[in-house]
Amino acid sequence: MTFSRLNAPKLTVRNVFNVLLLFILTLTSQTIFAQDAIDQARWDAGKSLFKSQCQSCHLPDKKMTGPALQYARERWIENGDYDGKSGEEWLYEWVKNSSAVISSGHTYANGLYNEYDKSVMSLFPQLTNEQIDDILYYADNYDKGGSAPVAAAANAPTGAVQSTFPMKTFLWILVGSLAFIALILWRVFGMLDRMAKEKAGEEITPTPPIWQNKKLTTLLTIVVVVFLGYYTASSAMGLGRQQSYAPEQPIKYSHELHAGKYQIDCQYCHSGASQSKHSNIPSINVCMNCHKNIQQGPQHGRKEIAKIYSAIAYNPNNGTYFADDASMDEVEAELIAYLKQDYEAGVDQTELDEALDAALAMYNKPVEWVRIHNLPDHVYFNHAQHVNAGKVECQTCHGNIQEMEVVAQHAPLSMGWCINCHRETEVDMGNNYYQVYEKYHEDLKSGAMDKVTVEDIGGTECQKCHY
Ligand code: HEC
Ligand code: HEC
Ligand code: HEC
Ligand code: HEC
Ligand code: HEC
Ligand code: HEC
Repeated sequence: MTFSRLNAPKLTVRNVFNVLLLFILTLTSQTIFAQDAIDQARWDAGKSLFKSQCQSCHLPDKKMTGPALQYARERWIENGDYDGKSGEEWLYEWVKNSSAVISSGHTYANGLYNEYDKSVMSLFPQLTNEQIDDILYYADNYDKGGSAPVAAAANAPTGAVQSTFPMKTFLWILVGSLAFIALILWRVFGMLDRMAKEKAGEEITPTPPIWQNKKLTTLLTIVVVVFLGYYTASSAMGLGRQQSYAPEQPIKYSHELHAGKYQIDCQYCHSGASQSKHSNIPSINVCMNCHKNIQQGPQHGRKEIAKIYSAIAYNPNNGTYFADDASMDEVEAELIAYLKQDYEAGVDQTELDEALDAALAMYNKPVEWVRIHNLPDHVYFNHAQHVNAGKVECQTCHGNIQEMEVVAQHAPLSMGWCINCHRETEVDMGNNYYQVYEKYHEDLKSGAMDKVTVEDIGGTECQKCHY
């Protein structure tokens, strides 16, 4: 039987293009639809602020160090009216200076404060009402926004935005391969078509060589440009999650001194590590528990501790906080008086000026610690699960932090790193949590198994680690 022309599908460039277009649209449609109801610009602005300022203590949807932020505005509107002011007005004041709201006697705020064991929320006097609106907007709609990672990365101060690069790249490679296969099929069908024509004795118009096909070259150029553009943008965002990354921090805080020499427990500062998904970076209030009194360090004298005082608007000379309307001249004079004591033998004016400028630049603002460890958005990692249930030491994953003057990323944080440990590490079957694995308990007793690893309880299943 000869190859029938009628059965040969018409695989023209247009058809190939349509199929590809359909495929790409399917891939992206999820994002397009999700963006429908959402003010994306606000959502992005809110997300970026939330991640850099609030996420160390809050999640949108779950309790952490502080309450879930979703629908906080509604709660304040309902319960927050006090002393002639509306709950909404109080809410803005709360975010800017929660301590002031608590001391005003505000009922709802004091209720919360007691409920959260009198943890002190950081102060954010620099946030405008619009920025607070953005954050709350993001929290209310956190699960509805789209990706727009480029815009978000541009205004994230500390690399807080995580990259979704690897998953997307994977998809693009898939698109590329499909296009390639389509191209080959197109040539094959062309040849079959010609053979059929030859058999039927029809006249053959010679096909022009492939590089002379304008439609096809245009299509390929578009694909290449889009792919390269995406790749460049994404890899730029992926920066910051790498082994040995040890950025300089705004205050020369030393783990070697605090966690090493003075043996302060990791969880005194990173209390989130055993309670929640994230391990928090402590607020400056935690530093003040000690540094109200410890006004001088062995290496840096008063220079670095001055930044703590400036950030929290504290006057070390008389032990009070600067008033809201304190003039910068007053703040400067007090800081000079404090710093001067470092130079008793005679003031080195240049050093003093430098220390003063560095401290003043941080006045009354949350400290912008540079984030070091940062997994991509598509990975789920939970500290409490490892620290509490798994009893894994901080040092196993983070190295000997108590010997680091400056924190450096110890582990590669790659998928292989997680999986290898899950294959090797035994889980503590005495844990109540594992009563459900009856068969394993029996096998352990009978000697059929000598240990149960994290892998055995499902720790290498894709969906355990990927959203
Ligand atoms: C250092 C930890 C910490 C940080 C950082 C933090 N908060 Fe809080 N927040 C708390 C705690 C703790 C509470 C509960 C009240 C208390 O104990 O002071 C709280 C309560 C709140 C509430 C009241 C919630 C309710 O249910 O009514 C809002 C609103 C809020 N925070 C907003 C923010 C925003 C916005 C940011 C970022 C700009 C932020 N917080 C950053 C710890 C924090
Ligand atoms: C006195 C408070 C304090 C103590 C105690 C403390 N830390 Fe920290 N930790 C910080 C601060 C502040 C930062 C952010 C600045 C920095 O990276 O040095 C930080 C950063 C980190 C980071 C890097 C976070 C990132 O951005 O990825 C890790 C990991 C860490 N600490 C682990 C530990 C471990 C483990 C211990 C106990 C051995 C410990 N810390 C003890 C205050 C503390
Ligand atoms: C539990 C008490 C405690 C806490 C909490 C604490 N520190 Fe310290 N800090 C100390 C002690 C003790 C010293 C060393 C004093 C000395 O040796 O003279 C010190 C010294 C310092 C120095 C001076 C280092 C030098 O070599 O000159 C800096 C800077 C500093 N701390 C920053 C911080 C920051 C930032 C925080 C909050 C994240 C913090 N500390 C929290 C106890 C504490
Ligand atoms: C099983 C490995 C593992 C253990 C154990 C572990 N961490 Fe982490 N830690 C990580 C990973 C992975 C990240 C990055 C998380 C991310 O980007 O979401 C991280 C991030 C952090 C951060 C930055 C803030 C954050 O949550 O992203 C701090 C601070 C931190 N760890 C402190 C600690 C402390 C303190 C302990 C011990 C009480 C500890 N970690 C135990 C793996 C671990
Ligand atoms: C040092 C060893 C170690 C490393 C590294 C490690 N884990 Fe784990 N992981 C454990 C242990 C132990 C458990 C079991 C905890 C328990 O008993 O529930 C666990 C459990 C888990 C679970 C729950 C599994 C289940 O079946 O319920 C997830 C999810 C997880 N890890 C994610 C990660 C990710 C993501 C990484 C890498 C970023 C990682 N882990 C790195 C030791 C590790
Ligand atoms: C124990 C946790 C864990 C499990 C289980 C896991 N992954 Fe991953 N995966 C990760 C981490 C962490 C990364 C981020 C690695 C990085 O950014 O370098 C990752 C990244 C990826 C990527 C992006 C490409 C890359 O290497 O960066 C793909 C695709 C992926 N995983 C697919 C899978 C599939 C498919 C499975 C199931 C067979 C799976 N993962 C199971 C932790 C896990």
